[in-house]
Amino acid sequence: MSINIQLIQSSGAAVKDLGVPVAEHFYNYMFTHFPEVRKMFPGDMTEQRIRLFNSVILIATTIDNLEVLVPYLKELGISHIKYDTRPEHYPIVGKSLLNTLKHFLGAAWTQEMAESWIEAYNLASTVCIEAAYEAMAPSRFVPVTIDDVPPAV
Ligand code: HEM
Repeated sequence: MSINIQLIQSSGAAVKDLGVPVAEHFYNYMFTHFPEVRKMFPGDMTEQRIRLFNSVILIATTIDNLEVLVPYLKELGISHIKYDTRPEHYPIVGKSLLNTLKHFLGAAWTQEMAESWIEAYNLASTVCIEAAYEAMAPSRFVPVTIDDVPPAV
């Protein structure tokens, strides 16, 4: 299995043209099938819908440029620490996202496209999770001591 970059980009572009209903479907699917994550999100989802939609489009369009994509994903993973996002939440978002793409792309959704998106999402979520892990790693919290008194100014 490998990522067909062109398929990811073309399906991302197709979904971009469909706009906000795509994000609405995503959240409806996720909150219906995985109600346990509903409480993590705000009551009014208007802004969040747009943010996630733009983010997924950005990931799809920069999939051919890992030098740009990887730092973006690391920041995203670290920013999700404050929402108490755990590794086990990522498959929930991934399944909801892939169901949404399949739903909107209809006959254009092929087995190769599915495999490419599975691999691309797994890559993206792994970068997010590893960056969050590193940011939270206990090894960063070793004691740091002083051994002298600063001179008088
Ligand atoms: C690769 C997958 C994901 C993408 C592309 C993504 C994208 C985003 C973006 C762009 C934002 C707003 C800006 C920010 O804080 O960085 C955001 C916020 C948020 N995300 Fe994610 N996210 C992903 C995975 C997850 C997962 C797995 C969860 C947990 C179920 C989650 C929960 C949230 C929450 C709770 C917010 C804040 C909502 C608010 O208070 O407005 N996200 N996400």
